[in-house]
Amino acid sequence: HSQRLICSVATEPVLQQTEEAKMDAPKEIFLKDYKLPDYYFETVDLSFALGEEKTLVNSKITVSPRVEGSSSPLVLDGHDLKLLSIKINGNGLKDAHYQVDSRHLTILSPPSGAFTLEILTEIYPHKNTSLEGLYKSTGNFCTQCEAEGFRNITFFQDRPDIMAKYTCRIEADKLLYPVLLSNGNLLEQGELEGGKHFALWEDPFKKPCYLFALVAGQLESRDDTFVTRSGRNVQLRIWTPAEDLSKTAHAMYSLKAAMKWDEDVFGLEYDLDLFNIVAVPDFNMGAMENKSLNIFNSKLVLASPETASDADYDAILGVIGHEYFHNWTGNRVTCRDWFQLSLKEGLTVFRDQDAGPMAHPVRPHSYIKMDNFYTGVREGLFSSFLGAEVVRMYKTLLGSEGFRKGMDLYFKRHDGQAVTCEDFFAAMRDANGVDFANFLLWYSQAGTPIVKVASSYNAEAKTFSLKFSQEVPPTPGQPIKEPMFIPVALGMLNSSGKDLPLTSVFHDGMLQSIASNGEPVYSTVLRVTKKEEEFIFSDITEKPVPSLFRGYSAPIRLEADLSDDDLFFLLAHDSDEFNRWEAGQLLARNLMLTLVADFQQNKPLVLNPKFVQGLKSILIDSSLDKEFIAKAITLPGEGEIMDMMKVADPDAVHAVRSFIRKQLASELRAELLNTVKNNRSSEAYEFNHPNMARRALKNIALAYLASLQDEESATLALNEYKSATNMTDQFAALAAIAQNPGKTREEVLADFYNKWQDNFLVVNKWFALQARADIPGNVENVRNLLNHPAFDLRNPNKVYALIGGFAGSPVNFHAKDGSGYKFLGEIVVQLDKINPQVASRMVSAFSRWRRYDETRQSLAKAQLEMIVSANGLSENVFEIASKSLA
Ligand code: PHE
Ligand code: ZN
Repeated sequence: HSQRLICSVATEPVLQQTEEAKMDAPKEIFLKDYKLPDYYFETVDLSFALGEEKTLVNSKITVSPRVEGSSSPLVLDGHDLKLLSIKINGNGLKDAHYQVDSRHLTILSPPSGAFTLEILTEIYPHKNTSLEGLYKSTGNFCTQCEAEGFRNITFFQDRPDIMAKYTCRIEADKLLYPVLLSNGNLLEQGELEGGKHFALWEDPFKKPCYLFALVAGQLESRDDTFVTRSGRNVQLRIWTPAEDLSKTAHAMYSLKAAMKWDEDVFGLEYDLDLFNIVAVPDFNMGAMENKSLNIFNSKLVLASPETASDADYDAILGVIGHEYFHNWTGNRVTCRDWFQLSLKEGLTVFRDQDAGPMAHPVRPHSYIKMDNFYTGVREGLFSSFLGAEVVRMYKTLLGSEGFRKGMDLYFKRHDGQAVTCEDFFAAMRDANGVDFANFLLWYSQAGTPIVKVASSYNAEAKTFSLKFSQEVPPTPGQPIKEPMFIPVALGMLNSSGKDLPLTSVFHDGMLQSIASNGEPVYSTVLRVTKKEEEFIFSDITEKPVPSLFRGYSAPIRLEADLSDDDLFFLLAHDSDEFNRWEAGQLLARNLMLTLVADFQQNKPLVLNPKFVQGLKSILIDSSLDKEFIAKAITLPGEGEIMDMMKVADPDAVHAVRSFIRKQLASELRAELLNTVKNNRSSEAYEFNHPNMARRALKNIALAYLASLQDEESATLALNEYKSATNMTDQFAALAAIAQNPGKTREEVLADFYNKWQDNFLVVNKWFALQARADIPGNVENVRNLLNHPAFDLRNPNKVYALIGGFAGSPVNFHAKDGSGYKFLGEIVVQLDKINPQVASRMVSAFSRWRRYDETRQSLAKAQLEMIVSANGLSENVFEIASKSLA
């Protein structure tokens, strides 16, 4: 076994293992061990001869040593490649001068000074079911290289700090593969003998190899142009199989909107004359930002009103934007190493206005298999990273202008470089000349800070005090935590619900003005940096209700001393929409937790009339935005409640959530019926806020009503299903009907499948709906669906729909007889042989097994142990499973 150059073995083995197993175990890599590469690559000329049985890859690299005169061994990554030849400066290299194994190629003593290295390998894309590297998707060739897929194509220093200029020549059968694409500009194309043709592409920008891409196949394009603000014409092309072309209009709209937005908000223009997007049906993730040749999961490109829901339209808008924005945040400025992932992902997710908390720290300190960083699955396919929350804190602290200054300096300093999160921090700090204290801890200290707030009003002095105390819970490897730098955006509501003016605050022995140009403000940002600290506001004329962490100003868990009455008040009046929603969620969480305790003690469940009244007033308030109403009347998910329990009890949580839903539906029946009736529309589908909000509100009302399981609601849902003219409404009605086991459910599910069996994206919705059903014993249905002709373990979307859907259903996955765990365990082992990345995303459903009762713990643990001991397990699955057991 050769030792990896850049990796060190973990000092503490993850598991007790035999000596032999230890040698084979994947090596853990640490951030602190980063070393500059010994060699840089200047140019890379790739040449592909694509074939049905094998593909030849020739790679010609100009290499230069980092330190002049050094000739240490050059270690290249390569995964299961067949090496055909190596040349240095044009001369074949003798066997004695290199070593090759299943993971590396080592050139033992390279010439000192610059040289060219030429390597010829043979690969088998048609056998590549991992969908990393070069593979085939429904007959077409495509690539996926992030994070470490390029090593499946050719031997290379597969690390993002190796940035080079690429050319790519593709040769293939002209009939089978009429379209040949790679990064950059097309230099040349032409006919070859034997029915073949070729294309030569050149990318003028330096890039890391994870941004390389190649596509070859039978595709057609929707074409458009974008005129940049400096007046350049950019050709836009979205490629799909001919029959899907009509479904790309929304994707093109989304792309142009993103290009415009980046110019308007950040002054960032696209930097080439051509931008390609290709949609492929087999893809592990959502999409990939390869330079000028984005490759997308079809799910995030194809949409028509009949086949895609509002959520799909929204996701397409978001992800097309996300990948486009990577051109600057990720591609022009990239990551030094994979510990810096949030440098590009956090920033880019922030830029696409997305957000979402995740359990692990933004930048963990070690990893085995990079792909597992990407496993935080939200909304099915697309993961969002806590890093976005961190970026948002910079903006909260600096304001829009200060943040923009920081971004400008970041690009000025680092364009064309591979950098770290500290570099981003330094740009933000230096551009604004501010003291960021220990802000960098957000990148290294794991665990969500818990912030307690105690408030008191002094009527005589007209002061209002807020005492903050923070605690970061210990996490594995980090027992003792430092206090964090926490920006607290806040306001105060007077008794009529209006924001009180804020003028000054006493803190650290000083009275500071918070007025702006002498004018009072209605919201301000405090910098909380100590374990305990007090802020005393002056000139507060009446006892206020504080609105804390407005706009979710920091990714923390808040424990404030607010009463239920305060929360109802905030829910009704807060000028900050996030906090108004959050107040309702907090009330619902508290209510659910109380009822869960009652349920566990066999007490009868009774719904607090105040809660019903609170939701009712929201539901009938015509001054409110409909999307807000829809969100505000949606109860927190079962997973969220389980997370808050000492011992998670899926049955109790499910029973309580169902009880509340049904009780609300019966008490607000008239209002819900009106909501459905008043929010129908006979007009053609439109993707815009008012229409989406209207549909969302109508459909949540319909779902509530269906939970009543009575004749009238059943008829209503069936009528909605039959009269629907778009997928949003049709699917919502189907889901409402499918809540209730019985003949209607089965008939409508069958009808839906018959209608849509030729559209694999719609069929996936159908799989997912059945997979996550809470009807008793659903594991058997899911097992049967594995054998459905439309199902295929090799297609990630189908796995995420059926297996992922099931693993996300609290009652059936966590069935107390262990049937759900057993099912997932079996599938993971099977899936791992086909696609380790997809398998590891599935195995992560087990990762929180310690949160459950002893019976469930031992059942889940047994499955994890079974998985870890399976023969030939991938590194991806091994990392997740073994870390869960550790
Ligand atoms: N970088 C991709 C994105 O931002 C996500 C991705 C990660 C895709 C790893 C494939 C592999 O969307
Ligand atoms: Zn991204």
